[in-house]
Amino acid sequence: MSQDFDVRRMTAPDIAKRKGGAPIVALTAYHAHTARIIDPYVDLLLVGDSLGMVMHGYETTVPVPLELMIMHARAVVRGSSKALVVVDMPFGSYEESPPVAFRNAARVLKETGCGAIKLEGGAHMAETIRYLADRGVPVMSHIGLTPQAINTIGSFKARGLFRSEWAAFEEDARAVAEAGAFAVVLEALAELLAARITRQIPIPTIGIGASAECDGQILVLEDMLGLSPRVPKFVKEYAQLGGAIETAVKAFAGDVRTRAFPAGEHTYPMSDDPAPDTKKAKMTGS
Ligand code: KIV
Repeated sequence: MSQDFDVRRMTAPDIAKRKGGAPIVALTAYHAHTARIIDPYVDLLLVGDSLGMVMHGYETTVPVPLELMIMHARAVVRGSSKALVVVDMPFGSYEESPPVAFRNAARVLKETGCGAIKLEGGAHMAETIRYLADRGVPVMSHIGLTPQAINTIGSFKARGLFRSEWAAFEEDARAVAEAGAFAVVLEALAELLAARITRQIPIPTIGIGASAECDGQILVLEDMLGLSPRVPKFVKEYAQLGGAIETAVKAFAGDVRTRAFPAGEHTYPMSDDPAPDTKKAKMTGS
């Protein structure tokens, strides 16, 4: 089948080709309006399962259901036209077996129109990554701190701070690359280790709390806008919207309480009644 229309959106192969090239710019997006604002400036929009904590107030990402990811992903796809949209597979939707992972990943691709999925895990998920990649599902992997494993790892602390731990993370990175992942997120890994992994593997690394040497960087949008109550050390806040929103809401509440809002310019004044249409009135006898 030949297709002569241009695919304007970034694709997983486009991202893979950026290994060692211009840094990949990535942010999370959970809804159409933020996706629309940031889409022109990023290469990749991640519908991260962090939305469970950021948007829905869960303490961890573990409770996030697949349906919620699909709903938010549809909104992000509708709100964007340029960036590759990658959707997180939530906890419980892919670990059981490669066929279960395929069934759920296929739902995500079909029902949202996104271009790839992300799943957490290194060497132990390699078989699943290969199964998906061989069947038309582009997979971005996620190693280092893997928040879905919080109940077994016990904390959101950085990983690989001791050299004795490095080999296991390096093996994870190699395994996911060999299995066919098109990119890998390195979360909260010691800087030297993240840089070393970036040099060792043939696919792009996208860092979050990792290293400036990674092939790209990702942040949670709400963290970098100063909208999240608690942000990890690796976040640079580019705005303080949380404070700005509080100031605006306080001002609104004050205006409502003193009846300063709405003022004349915020209301609709009455117009004069239109002159009666005398011809029409005669014809209808009214
Ligand atoms: O869920 C998420 O937002 C993520 C990023 C932190 C990479 O996985």
